[in-house]
Amino acid sequence: MSKIIVNKLDKKSTINKNIYGNFSEHLGRCIYNGVFVGEDSSIPNVNGMRTDVVEALKNIKLPVLRWPGGCFADEYHWKDGIGPKENRKRMVNTNWGGVVEDNSFGTHEFMEFCRQVGCEPYINGNMGSGTVQEMSEWVEYMTFDGESPMANLRRENGQDEPWKVKYFCVGNESWGCGGNMRPEYYADLYRHYQTFLRNYGDNKLYKIAVGPGTPDTHWTDVVMREAGKYMNALTLHYYTVPHDWQHKGSATEFTEEEYYLTLRKAAYMDDLIVSHTHVMDRYDPEHKVDLIVDEWGTWFDVEPGTNPGFLYQQSTMRDAMVAAITLNIFNHHSDRVVMANIAQLANVLQAVILTEGDKMVLTPTYHVFDLFKSHQDATLLGSFTETKEIGTEEDKVANLSVSASEDKDGVVHVTVANVSATESCPVELNLLGQDLTSVTGRILTGAMDAYNDFDTPNQVHIQPMEGIVVENGEAKFTLPACSVAELTLG
Ligand code: AHR
Repeated sequence: MSKIIVNKLDKKSTINKNIYGNFSEHLGRCIYNGVFVGEDSSIPNVNGMRTDVVEALKNIKLPVLRWPGGCFADEYHWKDGIGPKENRKRMVNTNWGGVVEDNSFGTHEFMEFCRQVGCEPYINGNMGSGTVQEMSEWVEYMTFDGESPMANLRRENGQDEPWKVKYFCVGNESWGCGGNMRPEYYADLYRHYQTFLRNYGDNKLYKIAVGPGTPDTHWTDVVMREAGKYMNALTLHYYTVPHDWQHKGSATEFTEEEYYLTLRKAAYMDDLIVSHTHVMDRYDPEHKVDLIVDEWGTWFDVEPGTNPGFLYQQSTMRDAMVAAITLNIFNHHSDRVVMANIAQLANVLQAVILTEGDKMVLTPTYHVFDLFKSHQDATLLGSFTETKEIGTEEDKVANLSVSASEDKDGVVHVTVANVSATESCPVELNLLGQDLTSVTGRILTGAMDAYNDFDTPNQVHIQPMEGIVVENGEAKFTLPACSVAELTLG
């Protein structure tokens, strides 16, 4: 029997809804086919955007979407993606498979997709191969209401009103694909570029600087020291790669050892956040600079027979466990982590959605975002969980991953994953600060390697949770092996 105690009197930070954000790059079939099919497609669409995908994202209340990359962002010249489509430049996507990028999805299309989904845009600017003027003009194009060359150009292209753009990042992985820079050099360039990102009218930019992608805190240290006062947030990238970058392992065929290895590596996110925020605190004791984890998720070998540059992988219940562990970690760090963007939205890495022609599949990871959606903008509550270590000799993890929050109506939601691949877990749950009279639940469960595909799209799906007993103010229930649940306490 494991015990969970949630304390409604211990109100902590607000869980920023943007922790449940996503990332869409011009990579493989994420944008083209995953999001955008064009107005003339036989696949149901509104202004070229897939209706099934838009509806699915509305259901999980997608709050914010990062675009256009990733590595792609540092070679993206935004002027190639505006104006009449027949005039748009056809270019090579050098990062991802060397395929033709026809620029039919550009700034207007991205803003239209965000409008349909009801999420905020998060734009990633090109510092790697773009100029200060180009980045500055993009902001002017998108957000200036008055008379200016860029605002006039936007109007000529059919958009009278400026868009609201808050989140803007200067470069991507500038220590790697974004320019192989040293932190000293990046910090200086960041200071330079961000100077010319103007606030037009009441559009106030929230400026984001490139953070590290490794446990090494040197990048964080230098960038915070040299440029900390010019940013609203610093990013962190972390991918869960079971083995190493050369032999990542299959997404669907793995042993129990590889399962626990993957989960142990996912749980490492906690250490990363602690170590990097510790360094940030040296230069920012008042916590003015937020942390944004704008790329995270599993990275496995591509599905056999697919383009290695497209990063297409299936998503199993193992991915669902990674998502649950990671999102619970973010909730617990919501005093510093204000946004996170799983990589990526569709058909790439730990995708929430897979598409093939007119078919769409919701992955187990999608369902985890569904189960966690009531945490969005809720207040994190203090909680205690009695766990035991499970796994293998080398790779141990806590058997339960939990977080709890109170929503705007005072209702408490608890998300809990039993990450054991084989053992169910009986749980006793107590709520301090309120008489517990009822508990309802929704649950996702399946074998560790279960997944949804185009032939069996509902192999893994959310079901109502049976067998919850509430007696004398205490709830008792059993979590099956490899399961994620959302509990609503009344
Ligand atoms: O998400 C795929 C790639 O991973 C991104 O383009 C890059 O930023 C990271 O290395």
